[in-house]
Amino acid sequence: MVKSWNLVNSIYLLIVKNTMKRVKLLWLLCFTLISMQSWANTDIRPVYLRTEYKVNPFVEESSPRLSWELRASGFNQSQQAYRILVASSIANLNKHIGDLWDSEKVESNATNQVSYQGKALQPGQKVYWKVKVWNAKNEEGLWSTINSWELAKPTKSEWTAEWIGKDLNHLAPKGEYHLPPSPYLRKEVKVTKPVKSARLYISSLGLHNFYINGEKIGKDYFGSGWTEYNKRVYYNVYDVSKNLQQGNNAFGAILSSGWYSGYLAYALLVGTPQVDRFYGNFPLLKAQVDVEYADGTKEVFYTDKTWKTGVGAVIESDFLQGETHDARKDPKGWNKVGFDDNQWSAVEVVADKSDRALEMYPSNPVRVVKELPIKSIKKIADGKYMIDFGQNFAGNIRLKHKAKAGEKLVFRFGEMLHIDGKLVTENLRRARAIDTYIFRGDAQAEVWSPSFTFHGFQFVEVSGLKEEPKADFLTGLALSSDLETAGTFKTDNDMLNQLYSNIVWTQLANYIDIPTDCPQRDERIGWTGDAQVYMRSATFNNDVAPFHKKWIKDLNDSQWENGAYPVYAPIPKNDKGLAAIRPSDTYSPGWSEAGIICTYEIFKGYNDHRIVEESLPYMTKFMAFLKSKAPQGAMVEGIWEDATPKGGFGDWLSVGQKTSPDLVANTYYYYCTKLMAEMTRAIGKDQLADAYTKDLELIRAGFKKHYMDENGKLKIDEKVYGNGDGYVEGQNGFSGHTQTAYANAIYSGILDGEDAIKAGQFLRDLVQSNGDKLTTGFLGFKPLLPALSKTGSVDKAYKLILSEEYPSLGYEVVNGATSIWERWDSFTKDKGFVHNAAMNSFSHYAFGSVNEWMFQNLLGISATANGYSEIQIKPEISSGINEASGSYHSISGKISSSWKKTGNKIVQHIEIPVNVKAICYFPTANASKVSINGKSLNSLSYVSNVKEGAEQVTAELGSGKYEVVINN
Ligand code: BGC
Repeated sequence: MVKSWNLVNSIYLLIVKNTMKRVKLLWLLCFTLISMQSWANTDIRPVYLRTEYKVNPFVEESSPRLSWELRASGFNQSQQAYRILVASSIANLNKHIGDLWDSEKVESNATNQVSYQGKALQPGQKVYWKVKVWNAKNEEGLWSTINSWELAKPTKSEWTAEWIGKDLNHLAPKGEYHLPPSPYLRKEVKVTKPVKSARLYISSLGLHNFYINGEKIGKDYFGSGWTEYNKRVYYNVYDVSKNLQQGNNAFGAILSSGWYSGYLAYALLVGTPQVDRFYGNFPLLKAQVDVEYADGTKEVFYTDKTWKTGVGAVIESDFLQGETHDARKDPKGWNKVGFDDNQWSAVEVVADKSDRALEMYPSNPVRVVKELPIKSIKKIADGKYMIDFGQNFAGNIRLKHKAKAGEKLVFRFGEMLHIDGKLVTENLRRARAIDTYIFRGDAQAEVWSPSFTFHGFQFVEVSGLKEEPKADFLTGLALSSDLETAGTFKTDNDMLNQLYSNIVWTQLANYIDIPTDCPQRDERIGWTGDAQVYMRSATFNNDVAPFHKKWIKDLNDSQWENGAYPVYAPIPKNDKGLAAIRPSDTYSPGWSEAGIICTYEIFKGYNDHRIVEESLPYMTKFMAFLKSKAPQGAMVEGIWEDATPKGGFGDWLSVGQKTSPDLVANTYYYYCTKLMAEMTRAIGKDQLADAYTKDLELIRAGFKKHYMDENGKLKIDEKVYGNGDGYVEGQNGFSGHTQTAYANAIYSGILDGEDAIKAGQFLRDLVQSNGDKLTTGFLGFKPLLPALSKTGSVDKAYKLILSEEYPSLGYEVVNGATSIWERWDSFTKDKGFVHNAAMNSFSHYAFGSVNEWMFQNLLGISATANGYSEIQIKPEISSGINEASGSYHSISGKISSSWKKTGNKIVQHIEIPVNVKAICYFPTANASKVSINGKSLNSLSYVSNVKEGAEQVTAELGSGKYEVVINN
């Protein structure tokens, strides 16, 4: 009250000083402020309403889950109860009538994953909702604004459309690659009455662009995604109410092979007999436009045998090989009304697989998420120029250029340049990655961008230019699954800031429908090991819940008969039931566990119980498979010999001596069992939870007995590995006493108490004796810094993150990296590209897994309860950085944490969302040295549970913005 009175006073003073006109305005403001004061303690209001993680979406769940965030002034605000209204019209909601659902007042602090429990909805029904909450004092807050969702087509029987396409394989020119042209499809229909609303439901096996009256529908790329097409295919929905006109309308589609019938991964490279068409021979389309007329009647237009097909400008297109567009061949006006399609033939109608599910795409579509201007253009030969975009990314180019009919530009893509300025393409292996554009010869500059391919690149070599091109003749289009940005991160260290940028860019480049290993070479598959080590890191950068809601289904659909999750998903299978791309691709410790770990991250990070319920049969089957490898509790050396390579991929791309893959597998087994115990308990499967909890002790005891000596040192029986034949880098020899072994033992929790302390000391010694350098690969690096932090070696974690010497991420940065490299030595100053023609990607997110430590430890933001409803703010401050700030937009709202160190003084800024409780850690032993918002810690009513520890003071804070000053 005092504060607001001061405010009124100042406004009054202002008034006196101002003219009459202003006086009126200010009195109005004054009046508003005074009247706001009358409900200032009850201004709690829900915002950012989402249904199934999306704003105003189409969904197909009959009981979708609703979420909101809260805003309220003051401190320590929380929700005690909520009321949701769902109505069939906005008018009803405006009158506060929930004719479909009125939840009434529900005593609950839940702000997310609240299931709709109203009347059953009809396919195509759009509903509106709003929510209000009561605060901790049971005071009623304000209604949110109104949001909506629309039920799509929950069952296949809602569909009239048939699968149509055209087999054009015979038109593929003979040559190194088999690249048939794209079928163009069209149909004209008559709309006889005024349209109230229209929806396009569209699915393809392969890729599609869809047009109505010449206009492309949606900005999305690569619909309908990659799935285990024999089990599941997705569809998308678009509001096309405004695209239809009364009278004749033209529908058009261009199809491309995509993941369905195009080239996949390294099949060509490794000499698999089948290299493309893994799921079907040619792409297919299923689309229908459901129209509701103003008079209430309905009509459906759909794909069937009456559609016509021809060929056009897209003469070849493939993810790995690139796209060729001959603009002269564009059948002018083919997707508009009045085109003469007499020369076009009838489409082929293909029967559906009865057991293939047709479902709404759960993720956000791939879109252009950033446009990049050219950084430099350099002439390298006659007609040949090298374009540098200054940033490694995945996507396409957009061309804007004028040339004569038949003139052609050829674009080759690469991530790096050789010393002599030539494009590095060796690391693309058998991905041709070439786009070609042949000009129509328009009077204006022609604008073109491929639709059915993408490349991982920074440089483009353009051939065929008649003169120096304009500075903006190309634009880089960065493609990614379009997920909300969730994090920010900044420090006073430029290298570290660049590293964060590299992590973000590499995630964008590899979150393209599925989480891929890399976007450039003949691979681009959903490697499970990469995905699981990186998963938590990913959550801090983007809202990945919808993305992984999709991929976890891919994972479950891909599970092997024996219960193992595969090494990548989706994984097409041959007629023997083996991996079709390379039959030896099976399962591996550290990879297969993605089925548990990725599901857990969605459960934990987004409080998603449903994903656990849906994945449970797959996860329990996998756990039984793991248990079969550890009958006595420990997975002994050699137990994973059945994997290919032997022991699995192990600590992939580590430096020097290898860690026993079986030892690491034990730590993963323990970790997965722990996660399963937590997840099954949360969904009320107590018997299962008890069984997993019991297993935990067995696994730990087995591990200690087998792998730990009396001093707590980890050891293995090296003899079992012989000369290492058949194992990844087996010639380097195996050990149990490595950074990777201790880091995983600590991170997984298999060692605790005294054992963990000893392991922490061994880990510290190993880092120190190696000149404060790492030796870890994919599996060892992710837990390395967290394990050092957990066992009191924050100083060493800082040394590793700030290192600029090989091997380190800083080394990449100082060598000019704008993305995360696959290998620690992808490029070295003295040796150049030693791995050039082999695996040498410059866009591989796996080592970006350090992001988890950057957010959880350096900034100190971590969840202590599901969905960040309870958090910990515990920044770890050590030498080398004086200032850091960042934020994470969780499903419970935005959390910020920053700190600045000047001499003995530390200033922290903390922001905690409404309804979230935070335990905050302040680096001092004495509570009297801490002040918050200018007051001493103990004097504040909104601070509770202040505790003094040997090195830290902790206090509990609720919502609000805080400036904390610690004067040591
Ligand atoms: C991929 C990796 C993947 C690995 C299996 C590589 O070719 O690029 O990231 O996890 O194979 O070890």
